[in-house]
Amino acid sequence: MTLGVWLIGARGNVATTAMVGARAIDHGVTDTTGLVTAREPCARLDLPGVEEFVFGGHDVRTEPLRERAAALSTDGVPPASVVDAVAEDLDHIDDRIRTGTAVNCGRALELAGDDLLEDEHSLRGVVERIQADLTDFERSHDLGRVVVINVASSEPMPATPDRYDTRAAFEAALDDDDDEIPASSLYAYAALSDGRPFVNFTPNTGSALGGLEELAEARGVPHMGRDGKTGETLLKSALAPMFAGRNLHVMSWEGHNILGNDDGLVLEDEENQAGKLASKGGVLDGLLPDLEHNRVRIDYTPSLGDWKTAWDHVHFQGFLGTEMKLQLTWEGSDSALAAPLVLDLARLAAYADERGEGGLQPHLASFFKSPMGVDEHDLSKQFVTLEAYVEAHAGDGPTSVGERDRTADTAGAGTKPEADE
Ligand SMILES: NC(=O)c1ccc[n+]([C@@H]2O[C@H](COP(=O)([O-])OP(=O)(O)OC[C@H]3O[C@@H](n4cnc5c(N)ncnc54)[C@H](O)[C@@H]3O)[C@@H](O)[C@H]2O)c1
Repeated sequence: MTLGVWLIGARGNVATTAMVGARAIDHGVTDTTGLVTAREPCARLDLPGVEEFVFGGHDVRTEPLRERAAALSTDGVPPASVVDAVAEDLDHIDDRIRTGTAVNCGRALELAGDDLLEDEHSLRGVVERIQADLTDFERSHDLGRVVVINVASSEPMPATPDRYDTRAAFEAALDDDDDEIPASSLYAYAALSDGRPFVNFTPNTGSALGGLEELAEARGVPHMGRDGKTGETLLKSALAPMFAGRNLHVMSWEGHNILGNDDGLVLEDEENQAGKLASKGGVLDGLLPDLEHNRVRIDYTPSLGDWKTAWDHVHFQGFLGTEMKLQLTWEGSDSALAAPLVLDLARLAAYADERGEGGLQPHLASFFKSPMGVDEHDLSKQFVTLEAYVEAHAGDGPTSVGERDRTADTAGAGTKPEADE
């Protein structure tokens, strides 16, 4: 069964790198390093292959993917030779990217071009257009399933999210052209109400509203978020349990991040930054309850491009009141860290959907800074949950849909409707 992967923010750095990477794996010009699902334990699951993904998406700007990929490669990632190898595939995908909505996106609006869906439609109409784009994508490419993944710019949080605590309240607000529902929740609603899995890789609200959780449960659709855990926060969730386990008293944890890409630019705005700060800072709350000072800063440093530097200073106390310090510097390629996780999440969300495992996906907690429905932030314990999920499923054969498709493949029936190449 061919999987359609629909990216919200499809022309951005993370999306472009994910698509370049998947196509590069198919062309044999890169390997699967960085994909969690390519190694044990997840490799034991019968997951859809990334080389068979068909990509499409929404964005609010029009820059061709080839240009975005070329711009990224001037910072070294992806390498120019890899971009060349997949350039034609990117042109095909370009044709499948539709203009979306930037309702309540704050500073991200500055990236947006003309003809946004809301210029012509009510909120309900915007949702219907998003759904029509998804249906068209599915039918045109004969896809067995479409997973929707949000990798759009950070947006401000709604002031009163509790107003959308039930499905009825959310839908009433939608019909009322409510002026607070953020774009990410419109995309989430459009996907979930049509029975399509939704993954929120951003700090945005997305499906994290009571009404949308209720909808996902009722429809039996998998959804999960939020905010991919890729760099500094990944380190925190690995290191903080070490201090706690050794009964070392952490007095302060100061984290300063600087980055130069458009994500960094949008995060310059205080309202757009609020969600990101909450998810980056929140990780330590449960792991180090006695922490006296926990601060995260994010600043835009244009010359760094897609590279992010995080400097963390941890001041702690040991036996006999001895004060000590850990300082670390993390220099990461922002998109190279995020892109493989986007591909992993597409595979795992499709797998859960195929098995009728609707609602939140707690076994995916290790992928997120603020895993929905999960209070555990200890990375190693989150990995244990993922291993337990695999253990419970590893003996499973493919579902009947998967079997049918693979039989067709072996029969050489030309069933690979991949149009990216
Ligand atoms: N890179 C990482 O390690 C990492 C980790 C966790 C989360 N994230 C999140 O992933 C997201 C993408 O990051 P990026 O570096 O690719 O940013 P980016 O600015 O390069 O790309 C974002 C894309 O989203 C588009 N967009 C903005 N609002 C939109 C809307 N309402 N609908 C459709 N498209 C919209 C923009 O036009 C842009 O093309 C950000 O929210 C970021 O915080 C990234």
